[in-house]
This record gives sequence, structure tokens and C-alpha cells, in this order.
Amino acid sequence: MASSMLKTHSFIFFLILFFINVIANRWSDYEVFGKYISISSLGLKRERLSHLHFYFHDVVSGKNATTIRVTVEAPLTNRSSPFIFGDVYVVDDPLTIEPDINSKMVGKAQGSYVVASQGELSLLMVLNFAFTEGKYNGSTLSVLGRNEVLSIVREMPIVGGNGVFRFARGYAQVRTHSITQIHAIVEYNVFVFHYC
Ligand SMILES: *[C@@H]1O[C@H](CO)[C@@H](O)[C@H](O)[C@H]1NC(C)=O
Ligand SMILES: *[C@@H]1O[C@H](CO)[C@@H](O)[C@H](O)[C@H]1NC(C)=O
Ligand SMILES: *[C@@H]1O[C@H](CO)[C@@H](O)[C@H](O)[C@H]1NC(C)=O
Repeated sequence: MASSMLKTHSFIFFLILFFINVIANRWSDYEVFGKYISISSLGLKRERLSHLHFYFHDVVSGKNATTIRVTVEAPLTNRSSPFIFGDVYVVDDPLTIEPDINSKMVGKAQGSYVVASQGELSLLMVLNFAFTEGKYNGSTLSVLGRNEVLSIVREMPIVGGNGVFRFARGYAQVRTHSITQIHAIVEYNVFVFHYC
């Protein structure tokens, strides 16, 4: 008898604790400026993996230059070093579907790169790929990574995106296609998870 009452009491006690917990959680969901929502409430369906392939054109001089060197010079920039540590370039580089710069343009790479190593030719790349073609038109991908330009293959993280690339994450594999004093053509293979 006593033991069954004890059981009933502890059951009721447990129920009360349970509901206090549920209510407290509810409150904590709404009290502050953030809460859990469902993926579908943003109109997102499922995560997909996309592969994008294009060529990046860095034209550093001439009438059609797409890259400018920022003329602010750090006092320690060593102009006699072949690597020009500390140089900053700002780019608005076309992205095309073929190595030919006059082939179809799919977007622009807009941002900057900094010569960020004293030991080898290594760049810090901070770029947005602003796409202008097909279902990617108006969407961007953001790149933040290290580009050791003399390596055969470089890999840079894709850290985000917008439009069809919301929640994007992935990487770009980068190979130099050809390079002259004026014009570097770089092949990009981008692998990216995003929702659609
Ligand atoms: C600049 O671009 C135009 C149009 O694509 C081309 O006709 C011209 O030859 C280019 N000029 C140079 C110096 O590359
Ligand atoms: C600048 O770079 C050159 C070539 O790498 C090197 O010989 C020289 O010592 C450097 N000067 C300074 C001040 O770091
Ligand atoms: C891309 O979108 C812009 C703005 O909506 C539009 O003007 C342009 O024609 C579109 N380009 C293509 C190739 O669909």
C-alpha cells in the first residue's frame, strides 16, 4: 500500500518535472532572438552536390586589364624579391567555359589576392564568384584559401554562397592552364554542396 503510493507520488513528481522541462524549453525557444526552424520553412528541399567547371582569366596589364595592383605600399614590401611579399591585387576577372577569353562568360571573380608568403609564391585568395549564366545567374560562391600558384594542383575552400548556393560548402581544385606576363588562364573545378 505504502509502496504503491510512493510509486504514484514519484510518477506524478516525474510528470511535473517533465512538463516543467517542456515549458521551460518552449520558453527558451521563444524568449530570445533565435529558435529552431525546419529546413522546409525556408523552401529548401534537399542537399545536392554540384560540379562547376570554368576558366579564370587574370589579365594584369594592357587595355583590357582585369586586375589592378593596389598602389598603397607597405613599408616592408620588398620590390627586389621575386615574390613581392605584401602586394595586394584587386580583381574583376572573367570566368569563361573555355580557355579562350572570348568564349562564353559565365560570371566574374571579384575580390582580391594578397601575396602572403615570404618563402614561396603563395597567395591568400578572397573572392566571390558572381555567376551570370543559367540557373546560377545572380548567385555567388565565396572562396577563402591559400593558392600556392606554382603547384600543379591547388585546393581552396568554398566557404559559402548565396542564391542557389545558400549554405554552400566545398572546395575548388585549381590548375594553371597557361600563363604569360600579361594573361594567366586558370582552370577551376568547383565541387560544392548546397540546397535546392
Ligand atoms: C581587348 O578586348 C577586345 C574585345 O575583346 C579585343 O578586340 C582587343 O584585341 C583586346 N585588346 C588587347 C590589348 O588585348
Ligand atoms: C629583398 O629580396 C631580395 C631577393 O629575394 C633579398 O636578397 C633581399 O635581402 C631582400 N631585402 C630585404 C630588406 O628583405
Ligand atoms: C541574369 O539576370 C539578370 C538580372 O535578373 C538579367 O538582366 C540577365 O538577362 C540574366 N542573364 C541571363 C543570361 O539569364
